[in-house]
Amino acid sequence: MEKAARTRGRRPPSLRRGTVPVKGPGRVFHVAIASSPRELDEARRLDNLVFGPAVGVKVDELSEIGRNGYLLLLRGVEGDLQGQSQMLVRPIGSHPDLASDEVYCYATALRPELIGSGLGRVLAMAQEVCARWHRRRRMTLAVRPENGPSIRMRFALGFRIVGYDPSRYAHAEGPERGGRVIMEKVLDRPGRSHETWQLVKALESGTATLVRSRELLEQVAQDRRMLAIPTHYIPEVHYHSYDPVVRELVAALCRYPYEGIGWLRPEEHHLPFPDGDIHLLVFQPRTQEPPATIKAETQRQEA
Ligand SMILES: CC(C)(COP(=O)(O)OP(=O)(O)OC[C@H]1O[C@@H](n2cnc3c(N)ncnc32)[C@H](O)[C@@H]1OP(=O)(O)O)[C@@H](O)C(=O)NCCC(=O)NCCS
Repeated sequence: MEKAARTRGRRPPSLRRGTVPVKGPGRVFHVAIASSPRELDEARRLDNLVFGPAVGVKVDELSEIGRNGYLLLLRGVEGDLQGQSQMLVRPIGSHPDLASDEVYCYATALRPELIGSGLGRVLAMAQEVCARWHRRRRMTLAVRPENGPSIRMRFALGFRIVGYDPSRYAHAEGPERGGRVIMEKVLDRPGRSHETWQLVKALESGTATLVRSRELLEQVAQDRRMLAIPTHYIPEVHYHSYDPVVRELVAALCRYPYEGIGWLRPEEHHLPFPDGDIHLLVFQPRTQEPPATIKAETQRQEA
């Protein structure tokens, strides 16, 4: 209790009341900042329900996140927990590499029946309000390259894919299944969100090349042309699934100065693929420098 009060005392005045106001679909949402053990446990249960106990956040980790960042709760009118999101403004044991101008968005998860409702965006916007209060310049996060809803939501908010970290969550999922793309939003210089039609037009006109092999990827990347990588999307398990081809191609591409800017669904790209529900991840030559921590990680991987 005393600890929670001390933590709140350091927060900027408008967040001290314990809520973050966010304009969401149709109304203003008051996203709560969790502090009590009961709230922490509620968030942990939802996180573990969605991500599973191996990858899901642990109770000690959650209290550490709460002391060094924000644990955000979105409730329905009945007070029921609809979603939760975690964010760091200072480094913690399980995430020691946080630059002084950066916040790190840990997991964001809605109740499974609310996925696709647009409420995830409310939590993501609450994270941004907190990041701005702390005058941080960059928001970063790690996500599976197969996770369409999460990646699309972040693209729409001005994030880009700026790297691939093969070791992220490898301790929990094994070296062959771990790995996440790193997304970033620069708050004072956000990337332009690309409209779906612009990306489709780039594909149709040949400005963007469809890349399915490592050889073609190397050629297109050396010519610094826009490209699209197919990914096998599995709706119900997109936040657990693993597509080795997209992993290999994205990891290879992130060694070049490239950035991910868009995600296209089959009904948008209209390309015929014989093997199921194929979505496209669209990349372009990078327009901004990647963060120092990601650059260092990429150099470590290459060494
Ligand atoms: C990621 C998450 C928080 C996003 O919140 P959300 O409210 O579902 O997001 P949105 O409804 O705004 O959807 C995001 C985008 O994905 C699209 N999308 C949603 N469901 C989809 C589906 N089943 N198939 C394809 N695209 C889908 C939406 O159309 C939207 O894109 P658009 O705005 O361009 O149309 C939520 O989906 C979630 O909790 N997922 C499970 C946990 C997870 O994966 N967390 C992220 C990893 S940290």
